[in-house]
Amino acid sequence: MALRHVIFLGVLWILIASVTVTGRAVNEGQLPSNFMLTGEQMYKEYCAACHGKDGKGHGPLAVVLKTPPADLTTLAKRHDGKFPYDYVGSVLEFGPGFPAHGSSDMPTWGPLFRYYDKRNERIVKQRIRVLSDYLASLQE
Ligand code: HEC
Repeated sequence: MALRHVIFLGVLWILIASVTVTGRAVNEGQLPSNFMLTGEQMYKEYCAACHGKDGKGHGPLAVVLKTPPADLTTLAKRHDGKFPYDYVGSVLEFGPGFPAHGSSDMPTWGPLFRYYDKRNERIVKQRIRVLSDYLASLQE
């Protein structure tokens, strides 16, 4: 049990460190000001560890989580056949469920993106948008 948590924290740290590297590259202007990772690149970097490369929820980290990562390829199917942009945006921004109902195994990306993008709301929204578009393209 304890080891599971140590592993989880270690991996989370690596994950966050990798986000920081990406964020720094953008902020220091080493890249064009309109630089933005594609949804696919961000997905592979930030999400695939848990949700799996194909989005089905079988990433290498899945085994250490209490809650299994959701199958992201059935989002449309589970929402009357339409990709739920608003719902996905709010999960990315605020995390799944309500924080008051207990902590979640899914990181809350909004504050992280806001931090890495120096609170530039336009870039934060754009990240969420391109990530959502990528998830929409994975629907079965
Ligand atoms: C550390 C593991 C982990 C990472 C990294 C992660 N997720 Fe999740 N995600 C989860 C878990 C676990 C759940 C289920 C949470 C719950 O039910 O409380 C979830 C749920 C979701 C949901 C809700 C799905 C549904 O069916 O309601 C979406 C959307 C989602 N994740 C998208 C993403 C995206 C996009 C990324 C990358 C930016 C990401 N996740 C990164 C673990 C993760």
